[in-house]
Amino acid sequence: MITIAVLTLSDKGSKGEREDKSGPAIAEMLKGIGEVRHYDILPDERDLIKNKLLEYADKVDLILTTGGTGLSPRDVTPEATLDVIDREIPGIAEAMRMEGLKKTDRAMLSRAVAGVKGRTLIINMPGSPKAVKEHMEVILNVIPHAIEKIKGDTGECAR
Ligand code: MTE
Repeated sequence: MITIAVLTLSDKGSKGEREDKSGPAIAEMLKGIGEVRHYDILPDERDLIKNKLLEYADKVDLILTTGGTGLSPRDVTPEATLDVIDREIPGIAEAMRMEGLKKTDRAMLSRAVAGVKGRTLIINMPGSPKAVKEHMEVILNVIPHAIEKIKGDTGECAR
C-alpha cells in the first residue's frame, strides 16, 4: 500500500475563501493505489511549503501538490520543491505538459517539477480541478513502479 500526502497551495484556499476541489479530486483518483494519510492547504509561501514537504517526506511514499506552479508572482511551488528534492525526474513533468498541450495550449504555462527526496516521490500539479484530473491520468499508471524503484527495487523493468 502506497502512503500519500496531498498538499494544496492556494492563498485563498488557506484562508477559507475558496473551497479546495483539487485536493479531494486527487485523493479520489488515488483510491485503489494508495492511502492518503495527510492533507493540508497552505498559502503560497516558499518556506512554509518547503517545511511541509520536508515533514511529509519523512512520513509517506508519495507527495502530490496542487497549485502555485504558474506565472503569477506568488506562485512558488516549483521553487519550494526544488529546495527539497535530491534528484529531479524531468520525464514526469515533460509527460504531464506534453499530454496537457493536447488539451490546452496553456499547459505550457505550468512550471511543475517532479523529483525524489530520500525515499519519497514528489510531483507538482497545477491548481485547477480540471488540470489535476488531466495530470493524474498521465501519471497514475507509472506511480507504483516509480515508487518501487525509489525504494530500492532492483528487479527487471521490462514488461
Ligand atoms: N495543464 C492541463 N493539463 N490542463 C489545464 O487546464 N491549466 C494551465 C496550466 N496547466 C492546465 C494545465 C494554466 S491555465 C495555468 S495558469 C498553469 O497550469 C499553472 O496553474 P497553477 O498556477 O494553478 O499551478
